[in-house]
Amino acid sequence: MCAASLGVVPLSFASATSLGTLAAEKGLRLGASFSTGELDQAHGPSYARLYREHVHHITSELELKLAVLAPRPGARDFGPADRLFEYAERNGLAVRGHTLIWNDDIPDWVRALTKREVIQLLDGHIAAVMARYRGRVSSWDVVNEPIAPWDRQPGNLRNGPFLSALGVDYIARSFHVARAADATAELVLNEAQTESADENGQVFRDSLMGLLRDLKADGAPIDAIGLQAHLDSARPYDFPRFAGFIEEIAALDYKVLITELDVNDRAFANDIRERDAKVAEMYSAFLRSVLSVRAVTSVTFWQLADHTSWITYQARKAAPAALRRPRPLPFDENFAPKRAFYAIVEALTAMPPRS
Ligand code: XIL
Repeated sequence: MCAASLGVVPLSFASATSLGTLAAEKGLRLGASFSTGELDQAHGPSYARLYREHVHHITSELELKLAVLAPRPGARDFGPADRLFEYAERNGLAVRGHTLIWNDDIPDWVRALTKREVIQLLDGHIAAVMARYRGRVSSWDVVNEPIAPWDRQPGNLRNGPFLSALGVDYIARSFHVARAADATAELVLNEAQTESADENGQVFRDSLMGLLRDLKADGAPIDAIGLQAHLDSARPYDFPRFAGFIEEIAALDYKVLITELDVNDRAFANDIRERDAKVAEMYSAFLRSVLSVRAVTSVTFWQLADHTSWITYQARKAAPAALRRPRPLPFDENFAPKRAFYAIVEALTAMPPRS
């Protein structure tokens, strides 16, 4: 019987089993998002050790976002990003850069620009950031979350300064500028909310497929499609069907990356044992289906340990005194492996190798 289905956690397993090493044996790149801010907390050294042990790449969770690099017009602050690259290089980790162009999380000063200035910003920002870190980024999220049906724009595109200035062409243009700035980095279009078996998921899947077909026909230099996979206990899923959607993307000759995997446990029981079992089950079902598709070359978790998750930060902000804390990730607040960890180990062990 497997460890995940026994409710016991064999402690020796934890130090002996590295998620990154298991994945690498199958030709899969495994990583997690990383925040330099965590290094400044009391748990900083343990946080750094966990990443050293378990991942092969890190995704910058905040450090390369426009709102962090350029909260005000003028000179950019590369300090936090430089620190992330130094940590990665000291520890032999690759970096996925997140993210260059996003019609969300936009600093106010950008909203005051003319269309011409927005176009200059798009070209200049991509070129400057990619030139600074050229050769140090294995994979770039060039455009993030282009779809947002609630904005009611043609193609269900997300509204914002870049769409207003250039229409849908802002996407292809971003990839052309990125390719000119770095000839070898993997260029990724990253999208959210495609996973669920409900109306919302369907709209996202259909809109994304329409967009990808057009971008392909236009010859936009896109190497891979990132699917975020922020899974949610409150939504329905049909992961074998979702794997079929990934196959459709792969048929357009794109690689597929899972870029922001976590499980929001808000609709699961309060009881921790029961909740952890449900979260583990969701990781297991998701990974078994998704990893059966050979076009999936990389899986990135959105952080590794519960207390460093954006879900936990948001919950703490909303209700600082709440006793219930989210448990969305493979490691707990002591950086100890949970049932989700063992479910992930099993899925990696069972998956067919990439060729
Ligand atoms: C989130 C970070 O995790 C938070 O710390 C931050 O406050 C907001 O952004 N999709 C994305 C990521 O592409 O950039 C988001 O990251 C999570 C959803």
